[in-house]
Amino acid sequence: MNAAPAVAAAVVPAAGRGERLGPGAPKALRELGGVPLLVHAVRALARSRAVGLVVVAAPPDGVAEVVALLAGHGLDTADVRVVAGGATRQESVRLGLAVIPAEVDVVLVHDAARPLVPVEVVDAVAAAVRGGAQAVVPAVPLADTVKRVEPQAGGGPEPVLDTPDRATLRAVQTPQGFRREVLAEVHAKALAEEAGGGLPPVTDDAGLVERYGGRVVVVPGHEEAFKVTRPLDLVLAEAVLARRRASDGF
Ligand code: CTP
Ligand code: MG
Repeated sequence: MNAAPAVAAAVVPAAGRGERLGPGAPKALRELGGVPLLVHAVRALARSRAVGLVVVAAPPDGVAEVVALLAGHGLDTADVRVVAGGATRQESVRLGLAVIPAEVDVVLVHDAARPLVPVEVVDAVAAAVRGGAQAVVPAVPLADTVKRVEPQAGGGPEPVLDTPDRATLRAVQTPQGFRREVLAEVHAKALAEEAGGGLPPVTDDAGLVERYGGRVVVVPGHEEAFKVTRPLDLVLAEAVLARRRASDGF
């Protein structure tokens, strides 16, 4: 990492339980190739010369454990900080953002659950923000046709409402990149609205920027930046990692 002041900081929300992955440790602490997902994700960010500080939002009851785990993998440096995360992803990001030094002008937000993001994606997102965008998301085209449905409370067959044109759809990944003041402002607004019993939390930060009328642009993501959500994703991640390790051996 580069300690010069013009580099970006990254927030890594890692406080989720990973319920869809099944029983076990919090998802960020589950292992891939013998190394916790969180460690993979922090290393992926640290590999980028655009990133100078990584702030991890740990499970609120697991801060000491995360600090020890990062230290065990050589990540107990001044460039990596750990804070207690929150009850939602949105809250975890806000708590991480709160400790980023005032002079940092670009912030990336990267899911701990995307351990294999290539450094090229991190660099491209940071470069797009440096290039003038206020909010940048990496995304990939969809393989499947998507239908909007009317979910049924009893779990019965769901009536289809319509089929959006797939050519205009993108599956969004992280890291997402922001002008720091833009990200801070939308999180502050969302918090104020929540206090008034307002809108539900969003599942990505760009969604907040959109909610408050900001402009978000998409840059190419990467198929290996997929999110580990369900057990099959972990199988795929192990295969990708094994392939990388094999090709690094040559
Ligand atoms: N996250 C977080 N704080 C929360 C909830 C989620 O920091 N209160 C983080 C997760 O640790 C993960 C990222 O947000 O790195 C994306 O969330 P998701 O994939 O939904 O992870 P989990 O919430 O852990 O999984 P699940 O929804 O299956 O419980
Ligand atoms: Mg979740």
